[in-house]
Amino acid sequence: MARFYNRSLWVAALLAILAAGSSQAADFFFLQMSDPQFGMYTANGEFSQETANFEFAIANANRLRPAFVVVCGDLINRPADPAQTAEYFRIVSKLDPSIKLYSVPGNHDVRDEPTPESLAAYRQKFGRDYYSFRYQDFAGIVIDSSLIQHPGKAPEEAARQEQWIATELEKVKREGAERVAVFEHIPWFLEHPNEPDQYFNLPLEARQRFLPLFQRYGVAYAFAGHYHRNAYAGTPSFHVTTTGPVGKPLGVDPSGIRVVVVRESKMDSQYYGLGNIPNQVELNVHGSLPNGR
Ligand SMILES: [Fe+2]
Repeated sequence: MARFYNRSLWVAALLAILAAGSSQAADFFFLQMSDPQFGMYTANGEFSQETANFEFAIANANRLRPAFVVVCGDLINRPADPAQTAEYFRIVSKLDPSIKLYSVPGNHDVRDEPTPESLAAYRQKFGRDYYSFRYQDFAGIVIDSSLIQHPGKAPEEAARQEQWIATELEKVKREGAERVAVFEHIPWFLEHPNEPDQYFNLPLEARQRFLPLFQRYGVAYAFAGHYHRNAYAGTPSFHVTTTGPVGKPLGVDPSGIRVVVVRESKMDSQYYGLGNIPNQVELNVHGSLPNGR
């Protein structure tokens, strides 16, 4: 009887451990890169520096083996430039096929003020400019931020994207994705959600529509580029991480990549200059230094 009782206790304990394990989402990491921007260093003269930087970043992705890589826009410097586009894809093709890469459109890809023609040209070369992807219970929502900053020349496209974002957030929630991040080129804001409009953020008028939507669906993280340096800003419920460039820096942060660790209820990240990329990513090291140099 005592033996049976002991065995029952062991079985109960084992079942409890298994149940706890199955309800906990596994930690993983991905790499965020931004602004490889082929041609920027020499004002479209050539792009050997961008090639060196992006090849190094992709080689490190192959070595570190992230769940996926997201490139947050300004893939090239001159919209629709065939040589710059070809170089982007030549280097992207070196990424191990088991690691998915998601491209995000920047203002240099779809133009500062996108038109139906510039969007069609982008979509023909790079694919969709707004879409979502999944990794386990994580959902990535990729958006075309230029359509939000300057909708004037393609208002129907801008309205269609806005409708899609609302529909997609509802779908993501229905499908049970617990961890969601938005990927965009132009940050929602750099310091404060109510800061004045400028070249490096999205208009306050748009923030006032979208941020409550994200809050309603529990979307707490956005990752952006465009600034060519790091910035971190947020409210208790919405964190905007702006990441320095793989290509040409415009501030003190060197060219680099960001490692984002996705945990059960938060995302920690660290920016690494290209000369400072770690040997491996330790998932069990907590604490974020989002503006680290
Ligand atoms: Fe940009």
